[in-house]
Amino acid sequence: MATSAEWHESYADMSELARNFSRAVKSVQEELEAVDWYNQRAQATTDEQLRRILEHNRDEEIEHAMMALEYLRRINPVFDKHMRTYLFTQGDILEIEEKAED
Ligand SMILES: [Fe+2]
Repeated sequence: MATSAEWHESYADMSELARNFSRAVKSVQEELEAVDWYNQRAQATTDEQLRRILEHNRDEEIEHAMMALEYLRRINPVFDKHMRTYLFTQGDILEIEEKAED
């Protein structure tokens, strides 16, 4: 049963795959938002101990974001295709797009 007000479509009308896709996308959003917030706080604090904790937490959130992104890659062929095109490459990213579209 849906308990979240965050669904934009009827929960009953979505497949389990679509529900899990949405859950993972939202998780990536939340993890990356947390990465940004921890990073800002780490940059701003003058307390060295707190800075180290915040940087640790930021880096944990990066790990969480990548786990959710990998989940999306596994369940969605378009994520898989574009990640294979762009990730772990070198050079101009727009040139990679041009070559990929040839
Ligand atoms: Fe997290």
